[in-house]
Amino acid sequence: MKLLLTTNPGLEDIAGIECREELDCRVVELRKGRGRLIVELESNGVDDYIYTKISSMRSIHSAVLLLATHKVGYSSRALETIYEVTVNSGIENYLSYPHTFAVESKRIGEGHEYHSMDISRVVGQAVVDVSRSKGIPVAVRLNSPSVIVYAEVDDEIFRLGVLLSGERSMHRRGYRVYDHPAALKPSIAYSMFRIAGITDGEVVLDPMCGGGTVAIEAAMLYENSSIICIDKNIEYIKGAIMNALAARVYNRIQFIVGDSTKLDKLLSHDSVDAVVSNPPYGIRMGSPGMVKRVYRGLLYSLYNVLSSGGRAVFITTESKYMARTSEAVGFKVDHIRRVRHGDLWASIILIRKA
Ligand SMILES: C[S@@+](CC[C@H](N)C(=O)[O-])C[C@H]1O[C@@H](n2cnc3c(N)ncnc32)[C@H](O)[C@@H]1O
Repeated sequence: MKLLLTTNPGLEDIAGIECREELDCRVVELRKGRGRLIVELESNGVDDYIYTKISSMRSIHSAVLLLATHKVGYSSRALETIYEVTVNSGIENYLSYPHTFAVESKRIGEGHEYHSMDISRVVGQAVVDVSRSKGIPVAVRLNSPSVIVYAEVDDEIFRLGVLLSGERSMHRRGYRVYDHPAALKPSIAYSMFRIAGITDGEVVLDPMCGGGTVAIEAAMLYENSSIICIDKNIEYIKGAIMNALAARVYNRIQFIVGDSTKLDKLLSHDSVDAVVSNPPYGIRMGSPGMVKRVYRGLLYSLYNVLSSGGRAVFITTESKYMARTSEAVGFKVDHIRRVRHGDLWASIILIRKA
C-alpha cells in the first residue's frame, strides 16, 4: 500500500524519517522542494492502528491513500487521461455509506493548459460515472462528505487517492486561539526540533517566541524538558499564554517578557541546551537594519547562556548574515537548508557551540 504524504516544502526528508519511525514505511520517492513524498507500507489496508499513527505525525500536512499514479502531461488532453485513470482506479470501493464525496484537487508546477478546477470537475464526473455504473448511489457533498477524493497533477504526473487525514491541514493543531501576525507552522517547529536533535529532558528556549508555537510544540513532545518562551512584547506573551492554556501545556512553560538581545541578563550562563526560533525577518515585522542589530545581539548573548555542545536552529530569510555573525561569535554552522515559509523561501540554519 502506498501513501502520498504532504509537508512543508524543504522538509520532505524529515517527514520521511518520522514516517519510518511511526509506520515503518519505506520512502519510495521524495519530491524535494515540492512538499511531497510517496511511501510504501507492508499493510494492505488502512486500519485503526495506521489511522492513529498518521494522526499523531507532526511533520506532515496530509496523508492520502494512493490509488493511481499516471503520467498525463501538460496539454488539455491530460483531462481525458485523468478521467480514464479515475474510472479504472477502484475509487468506487472507497465510497462508504452514505456514499457522498467531494474532490480536493491541486495543480503543482507551471505550464499546464488546465487548472485545478478542471481536475476536480473531471475526477468528480469520473467518480459519479463509475459508481453509478456499479449501482452505487453516489452524490457530491462539499460539507462533511463521507469520503474526500484527492487528485493532484504534480508537473506531468497525476495522482489519485483517498484523503486519510481530514479536510483540515494537519499543521492546524487546534490550540491556536491567539493568532500571532507572523506565526510559524507547528510542522516547521517540529522539523526544527529534529534538525536540532533535541532529546527529552533538555532545556529548550525560544527567545523570540511570539504566540508560543515552538514552546507549545516542545512541551507537547518533550515531557521532561524545561521550556522557556521569551518575547519583548507583552501582548504576544499574553497570546502565547492563551495558546498554551488551550494546548493544556501552560504549566510546562516558563514565560518571560524580555529583550533577547540581552539573554545573559535573563538566563544563567550555560543553562540552555537547545534554541529553536523564528526571529523577525524585517519583512512583515521590523526593517532589515533592525533585524541585523537584533540578530547580532541575540547571537552574542546566546553564546553565554548556551551550554557547551548546545545547538540553536533558526528559520530566517537572512541566513547569510546569520551564518557570518554566528561564526564571528564563535559558533560552528552545521547545516543550512531552504524551506518554504508561507509565501517566502527562507532558510533553516543549525549552529553549534563547540
Ligand atoms: C516571527 S515572530 C515569532 C513568531 C512565533 N514563532 C509564533 O509562531 O508565533 C518574531 C518575534 O520576535 C519578537 N522579538 C523581536 N525582537 C525581539 C527581542 N529583541 N527580544 C525578544 N523578542 C523579540 C517579536 O516581538 C516577535 O513576536
